[in-house]
Amino acid sequence: MNAVPASPGIGTFDQRDPAVWTDPYPVYARFRAADPVHCVRSAPGEPGVWYVFRHADVLKVRRSRGLSRAARHRRLCAGPAPDSLFRYSEKLSHWMVERDAPDHARLRAAVAEVFAPDAARALAARTGEIADELLDGIVPLGRADLMTAFAFPLPLLVISEVIGLPREDWPTLLRWSRAFSELENRRPTLALYTEAGDAIDAFDAYLRELLGHRRRGPRRDDALGRVLDARRRGALTEDDAVGTLMLLLFAGHETTANLIGNGVHTLLSHPGQLRLLRERPGLMESAVEEMLRYESPVQTVSIGHVREPFTLGGRTLLPGDRVMPVLGSANRDERVFSAPDRFDITRSDLRHAAFGTGVHTCLGAMLARVEGRAAFSALLRRLPGLRAGDAPARWREGLLTRELAELPVTF
Ligand code: HEM
Repeated sequence: MNAVPASPGIGTFDQRDPAVWTDPYPVYARFRAADPVHCVRSAPGEPGVWYVFRHADVLKVRRSRGLSRAARHRRLCAGPAPDSLFRYSEKLSHWMVERDAPDHARLRAAVAEVFAPDAARALAARTGEIADELLDGIVPLGRADLMTAFAFPLPLLVISEVIGLPREDWPTLLRWSRAFSELENRRPTLALYTEAGDAIDAFDAYLRELLGHRRRGPRRDDALGRVLDARRRGALTEDDAVGTLMLLLFAGHETTANLIGNGVHTLLSHPGQLRLLRERPGLMESAVEEMLRYESPVQTVSIGHVREPFTLGGRTLLPGDRVMPVLGSANRDERVFSAPDRFDITRSDLRHAAFGTGVHTCLGAMLARVEGRAAFSALLRRLPGLRAGDAPARWREGLLTRELAELPVTF
């Protein structure tokens, strides 16, 4: 067994502890200082789960070749897993984020051009229009839960257009996306596996039908069109095509909703910075980067299993162990950022890891930035008296992401 020296007084990192997910930053700071590559085991002799807290180690581990994404599925499918878990895992095994080279590069190449920086920048005006449409609905009300009325629908509508999904289907797409994130983010139970498995099955059937329909119609230059091109070239199987489209919706939705929700919440709790952004809209780009750093939408990523032993921060990780880089901690690392707990939209030391690093770095990073900038610009323009509502904002239990359950505001 891999000996894990105890770090006196530091305890075990437990993301399920409400004290951690309501305010993780003091906890991260303790682990960065005392046990930056920290092992948790469910029982002695079981494989370890390694949490990586420092920025430099996160970069190192995410660039390591000694890790396998695909191993997760082989392990799940090999064990005595319940049916719903097996089904769920089989579907996810077609997602690029869960694949190793060379399959990963093949899947990513099929849709990469849709998310290239110039293509993403070209979506700025359309994103602004959708933001305005949503705000038209709430401006007369004077108050709203900004998560429900704006932060969730905006990225869903944008990514649906980018993929080529009919707009009228968005309430169903929202339900499927929520079922998936409920499972990935909460304590997993059989009921959650079943619910997410059912959502994934229904989405899968929906996409197969849509692919058939689009094959019979004219070619369109959206992600669906690119996936069909790749099918014709023989670069994707039908399962890969469906998996890729599904991943794009799930990966592009809640992450960006959390950027918007967390960003608004942070601005409202830092009125000086909100005022500064209103006075100097030219700071929007660095403000969005600072929001991504300060309240990172994805806090932790599960990046698969160790394939070959490797050493990190003086610890030896062995085959079968899992590795979890804590991006939210890396982005508050005092070794990289000056006064890391200060929210400062004029910061220039913005080497944050909010979109990950290495070959699996976020494919939609530029689109997310474009959406964030358009969303905050529209909110500042249309809601000049924006302030926190009477009820406090509430964080949701989130094992991987940082997400608000509600964000009551008045304006
Ligand atoms: C603020 C919003 C976003 C954040 C914080 C974010 C964050 C991330 C992170 C941390 C990863 C790496 C995951 C890992 O290594 O396991 C990732 C991967 C990915 N993201 Fe995003 N993301 C955002 C928005 C988007 C959008 C709008 C899309 C558009 C479809 C997208 C598509 C993807 C895809 C396809 C991957 C997998 C890439 C690969 O495996 O090669 N993301 N994202």
